Amino acid sequence: MCGIVGYIGGQTAVDILVDGLTQLEYRGYDSAGIAVLGPSGAKRVRSVGRVRDLEAALPKRLAGKTGIGHTRWATHGAPSEENAHPHTDSAERIFVVHNGIIDNARDLRLELEADGVELTSDTDTEAVSHLIARTGAETLEDAVRQTLHRLSGTYALAVIDTEHPDRIVVARNGSPLILGVGDKEMFVASDISAVVRHTSQVVHLDDGECATVTASGFRMFSADDNRAVAKSATTVDISPDELELGNHSHFMLKEIAEQPSSLERMLSGRLDERFATARLDGLNLDAQAMRRFKRVKILGCGSAYYMGQLGASLIEELARIPADAEPASEFRYRNPIVEPDTLYVAVSQSGETADTAFAVQEVKRKGGTIVGLVNVVGSTIAREVSGGIYLHAGPEVSVASTKANTHMAVGFALLALALGRVRDLSITDGTRIVKGLKALPAQIEQIISAPDEVEKAAKLLAEAPSLFFIGRVRGYPTAREGAQKFKEISYRHAEAYQASELKHGPLALISPELPTVAIVPDDELLDRNVGALHEISARGGDIVAITNPGVELPEAKVTLTVPKNEPELDPILLMIPTQLLAYYAALSLGLNIDRPRNLAKSVTVE
Ligand code: AGP
Repeated sequence: MCGIVGYIGGQTAVDILVDGLTQLEYRGYDSAGIAVLGPSGAKRVRSVGRVRDLEAALPKRLAGKTGIGHTRWATHGAPSEENAHPHTDSAERIFVVHNGIIDNARDLRLELEADGVELTSDTDTEAVSHLIARTGAETLEDAVRQTLHRLSGTYALAVIDTEHPDRIVVARNGSPLILGVGDKEMFVASDISAVVRHTSQVVHLDDGECATVTASGFRMFSADDNRAVAKSATTVDISPDELELGNHSHFMLKEIAEQPSSLERMLSGRLDERFATARLDGLNLDAQAMRRFKRVKILGCGSAYYMGQLGASLIEELARIPADAEPASEFRYRNPIVEPDTLYVAVSQSGETADTAFAVQEVKRKGGTIVGLVNVVGSTIAREVSGGIYLHAGPEVSVASTKANTHMAVGFALLALALGRVRDLSITDGTRIVKGLKALPAQIEQIISAPDEVEKAAKLLAEAPSLFFIGRVRGYPTAREGAQKFKEISYRHAEAYQASELKHGPLALISPELPTVAIVPDDELLDRNVGALHEISARGGDIVAITNPGVELPEAKVTLTVPKNEPELDPILLMIPTQLLAYYAALSLGLNIDRPRNLAKSVTVE
């Protein structure tokens, strides 16, 4: 959801900015731009499309060692060069890049226009650049602070000023922003992917904080009262290689392929075979505290929400605690009842999803206990919660989430195991789950190393304009996630239903034109699921079944089998072919797999 980058130091800024924007492109990719302060003043270049289009529009020589850049995911105004960032004031003195939404932009724009300012874009951000330029403050810092007091909404801002070329001033409220600390150079970015090639030392800004960034360092202060804020850099543990495509054709495929090794890493040190439980010290909950909870409520968005549903089912089965999941985007708006004996769990790959971050704040504000299942270390949600389980999936670049989802599901299995073992889950059942978790990486490897059948099935599905994904009880979240992945990148209408609900309505749609992907675990509900498949095939509907070895499904046109694990963990394995189905369907349709239309990796606006 928009990516911001900034550089100040001894190198040519434009190279660093373009490289940073390329890394951040997964956040938004409808237009991009940079502004650089050079010997002959400021130079701004913007372009519609991808960062490579911006690169093509850049002049051969663009001197300047201070600059800011932006890759945009449109909110105010269509993707166009005029609406691309950086925005500037009428005198082209102040340049601003912004991630977030200024809620009172309409009023501010009207006020500026009434004052004779000619606005050149439809954006909220342009108003910010005019306001900064018009404060009359002596320092850029004061001008930015005074302007912030006039804004309501969310922002991460980076501002440069031709009259103060020795600095970038940044501010954060509700949208992520970090500083990268180099040797006589500093970086500004929406996330660490833009800076890891240059430094491993980062500083996370919190809401309400601003910073002056110069080549020699940074100084932080509060937006409210200019009070100095003391912060030091932390070391991030990501190698630049993890962000490279390597010999894979797409990040999505790379990330699917990484799952066995990333899961090994995630599980390492977390399984306690002696007591048949999970070691989750980061939760900051001892056995007594864990026993106190009478309910578990999981909050996340999109795929994270579906993984929350899968997690709720695991927690109910293993720990016998009533559990449910709700989209954080709904929870936050419905004045939720927050109970002291409920454990709230926020789940997020990026740790920056605005709706989930707000839900966390809502739970905290009402005195609830909230922990996180988060992938990105040091992200907003990770810092807001009282404890949690880091997912350790490594960077995920593809907009369509795969390995982070699998890690979420496994994170919930660990949580369910730990909650279960301080209650009534027997050591025998605990041991069964520990063994099942240990088997997952090799079993996933087995699935992804034989993609031929999946590819064939994907081609069949890609031909249909519309399809169903069905599952029952444990298998239903898997079906939902399967449909989500498929629609995100193939642009086919894919809808998930409980297999049990088919005959209550959706069966009317079954025809040879509408195929179904059926999640059919070999469990106590197998006969019921087979019944649903009969109903579909009797109406001429094609079926792609995902099941376990030994299950005969003559109704299915294609049967994909995944190794059998424990019944509670089977939904995780049954999900892997759905990732591949989505990938190969989009591939056969020739679509942009890693950058699907209208979407962004990190949804930092409401
Ligand atoms: C996943 O494929 C989607 N792109 C999307 O639903 C995503 O899971 C959702 O936006 C939540 O993101 P988060 O995990 O970073 O919070």
